Amino acid sequence: MHPDQLTGMIDRINSFNATPGRGITRLTFTPQYEAARRYLVEEMEALGLTVYVDDIGNLFGSLKGSDPNLPAVMAGSHIDTVNHGGRYDGVVGTVAAVESARRMIREGIKPRNPFIVAVFAEEEGSRFGQVMAGSRALTGLLDRQTLYTLTDSDGTPYSEALDSANLKNINRCPSPANIKCMLEAHIEQSVVLEQRSKVLGIVQSIAGIQQATVTIEGTANHAGATPMAMRSDALAAAAEMITAIEDVGSRRAGPSTVATVGNIDCEPNVSNVISGLCRFSLDVRDSDAEILTDAVSGIRSLCSDISERRGVEVTFTEKPRTEPVTLSRSIGQIFEESARKRNLPYMWMPSGAVHDAAVMAQVTEVGMLFVPSRKGRSHVPEEFTAEEDILAGVEVFSDAVISLCGGS
Ligand code: GLV
Ligand code: MN
Ligand code: MN
Repeated sequence: MHPDQLTGMIDRINSFNATPGRGITRLTFTPQYEAARRYLVEEMEALGLTVYVDDIGNLFGSLKGSDPNLPAVMAGSHIDTVNHGGRYDGVVGTVAAVESARRMIREGIKPRNPFIVAVFAEEEGSRFGQVMAGSRALTGLLDRQTLYTLTDSDGTPYSEALDSANLKNINRCPSPANIKCMLEAHIEQSVVLEQRSKVLGIVQSIAGIQQATVTIEGTANHAGATPMAMRSDALAAAAEMITAIEDVGSRRAGPSTVATVGNIDCEPNVSNVISGLCRFSLDVRDSDAEILTDAVSGIRSLCSDISERRGVEVTFTEKPRTEPVTLSRSIGQIFEESARKRNLPYMWMPSGAVHDAAVMAQVTEVGMLFVPSRKGRSHVPEEFTAEEDILAGVEVFSDAVISLCGGS
């Protein structure tokens, strides 16, 4: 693959951005997202792929296999971002999948199994509040009706945003039963590959995730006239809970548990009024299902103790959980063989971030390949992966696609 082509694709996708100069913001079904998607449709159609979308908004480009009755090899990722995110999360995996198709076509390799490029909708959950919504709906883990009624911060339902995206060719949805395996390339989003001077990470497992919204109801009152002993301060209660949550992540749960509060809102949010209502996000992850369950219940009970002591009410609204998964060893070995042949330093590793691959692993065999992230920064404008590392990743990734498609 030509380096200019690779950077050209990444630059082009990132030219569609709602926050130029302040990171990349490309939320699902927004004009920037639609423009990036149109570009990908044009690229895939120019390659001769058959392009279609499903009734979820996932985009597919499929290349015929010489035996159309065989199940498809699927590869892909996402092009939605977090608010003010980076240039590579999701984009690298999308480009790696399109480039795998381009390579087969350019080199005259005829796949036996059909090959499908997949661009999953709403992976980050940044617009409609649920991570990996597109792949979860595809696999049936999230039902269509629930998906369609999710709303964004303006109250726009998913169904309406999907309709206004004016999608063409809503004619099929690949059946999970018809997918032989799924591959995703991604940036590592941590420091391990960089610290160990490896170019590739072969992912063994993906952590499970439980997210929730925590709502605290206190009593709004005058900041000057209300004595300290007479307060039910929702924001102060939230502050104590947030520190307790951090403590669960860092000390009380398992060695790989992480717990984050990344978003907070309070009412009335006025400097001389005691806060009467506070809402914050909760994100807890672990590679062990039992430890994840214990960490979440530990957090719930600590928050309930704090709320009782402070005379406020706390409510947890949990989002659907995604279980930790182990990925395919045999696909990992295909990546390994290619990395060895190409003399690229690699290692096997777990993923702390979640991916559409984790969802697809509930229904098919999945392989995932990481490339390094500079200083482990991700979900921020500073996110960076060197071009030569992406190139190496795409080469090994496409070797595996060709091998799994039985290309000749
Ligand atoms: C997805 O990017 C996640 O791990 O939150
Ligand atoms: Mn991602
Ligand atoms: Mn992400």
